Amino acid sequence: MKIAIIGHGNVGGTLAKVWAKAGHEIMIGLRHSNDDKVTLLEQNFPNISLNVIQEAVAQAEVILVATPAHVTVDLAKEWQQMHGKVIIDATNAIGKTPEPYSTGYHAFVEICQAKVVKAFNTTGFENMADPKYGDTTADMFVAGDSSEAKKVATQLAHDAGFQTVYDFGGGDKVKALEHFAFAWINLAIMQGNGRNMAFKILKR
Ligand SMILES: NC(=O)c1ccc[n+]([C@@H]2O[C@H](COP(=O)([O-])OP(=O)(O)OC[C@H]3O[C@@H](n4cnc5c(N)ncnc54)[C@H](OP(=O)(O)O)[C@@H]3O)[C@@H](O)[C@H]2O)c1
Repeated sequence: MKIAIIGHGNVGGTLAKVWAKAGHEIMIGLRHSNDDKVTLLEQNFPNISLNVIQEAVAQAEVILVATPAHVTVDLAKEWQQMHGKVIIDATNAIGKTPEPYSTGYHAFVEICQAKVVKAFNTTGFENMADPKYGDTTADMFVAGDSSEAKKVATQLAHDAGFQTVYDFGGGDKVKALEHFAFAWINLAIMQGNGRNMAFKILKR
């Protein structure tokens, strides 16, 4: 897949490497063209390229958004011709929220009319680099109204090594998926369990 990555910090930088290793074509969208960290990424991976944000988005089939959540409103306003493209919203509205929308997902759905899915938001970026815990592998969760976008995010979660990808529900469950992410943040950081923990569903 041709994937644009907007926000190349902890989450975007990690998934860029993971998906490049899985054989995808990665276009990192830059707002500062003299970013040394990203230049290194491009040098080490032949299938990662650097572009300005609009160019990366124009070339991509899939767009991962891994910026602070409030930024999604401005991004959505700049991306008008999004029909046919899938947006994966990995943001969590911690601190500044994407007003007047409750989540980045809702900003993209309302403003761009794109195929949007919330995914890669419920676990730390360390688990995106390596979801394995001994013989067990962490799960991933997706939510949104576009079955096509969910299918793409599910494939990309498997490509990143996650085991089962659970459908958390439609657009009405996206906020709940952010609350699920806050549960991870609470347990890992506020309650002091450490970031080396991940969600796994047990069934019988
Ligand atoms: N950290 C985690 O483990 C984790 C896990 C799941 C979900 N999330 C969510 O994922 C998102 C990113 O988290 P992160 O930890 O990866 O953050 P981060 O390391 O701080 O990276 C944020 C990225 O967003 C870019 N950015 C900031 N403002 C922008 C703008 N106006 N336009 C375009 N790009 C902009 C930054 O670009 P510059 O480098 O140019 O400043 C940077 O590349 C957040 O919403 C967070 O809640 C985080």
